Amino acid sequence: MAEEMKIPKHLAIIMDGNGRWAKQRKMPRTYGHAAGAKVVEQICEDAKNLGIEYLTVYAFSTENWKRPEAEVKKIMSLIREYLKKQEKKMMKENMAFSVIGDRSRLDADIIEIIDRVEKNTKDNTGLKFCVAINYGSRDEMVRAMRNVAKDVKEGKILESDINEELFSSYLDTRNYPDPDLLIRTSGEERLSNFLMWQLAYAEFYFTDVLWPDFNKAELEKAIDKYNKRDRRFGTIEE
Ligand code: IPE
Ligand code: IPE
Ligand code: MG
Repeated sequence: MAEEMKIPKHLAIIMDGNGRWAKQRKMPRTYGHAAGAKVVEQICEDAKNLGIEYLTVYAFSTENWKRPEAEVKKIMSLIREYLKKQEKKMMKENMAFSVIGDRSRLDADIIEIIDRVEKNTKDNTGLKFCVAINYGSRDEMVRAMRNVAKDVKEGKILESDINEELFSSYLDTRNYPDPDLLIRTSGEERLSNFLMWQLAYAEFYFTDVLWPDFNKAELEKAIDKYNKRDRRFGTIEE
């Protein structure tokens, strides 16, 4: 890739297509999730090497609880294994890890690992890696609104203090800049309740590649396309 490439500061990814990938191989959907989890590890490394500072990935939505219990269980156990396995590596790689979404519905031991890894890696200066688990944009905004209302009621803020910046500071993503580029794999072209506030001005890149097949070359393709886009932010070209 050419040196003068503009690299998105914050990349967000909807990792989709694990089930179809498994189906193509006549394997259970959970086989696809296991393959997908491995790709996450590699993409973190590729993103870091490309100079991406923030990476946010969608692992489990607030709607994904509607899937068969066995599949949900398997995804949760993959998340558990992933965190256990990556904990040391994230320290070694100087990564700062965080989770967005309503973690209160997760198993207690998973919440415990998340809290620990977040705390241990919070001062790391390498890739800021964020995983969305039991995340839904609408849920995030409702939780934020409740907290805003509570703080107004308690006199911590005034109604007149409420503006875009203040509202952003109540979202789970408060420590992150807005994503510059969103990638969704598997050919679906929708947000599925992901970062609806934060993606207001992001560029969208959709690819038919299924998540377990996603790799560095595909990532570079997305960034190349991003470079050809003209981000006007509402202004006109001079
Ligand atoms: C994405 O892959 C992973 C999760 C939503 C957890 P899918 O499981 O949605 O795979 P497809 O879309 O059915 O192929
Ligand atoms: C979105 O994918 C959620 C994640 C990738 C975690 P889904 O596969 O759940 O989305 P829909 O149902 O196709 O919109
Ligand atoms: Mg899907």
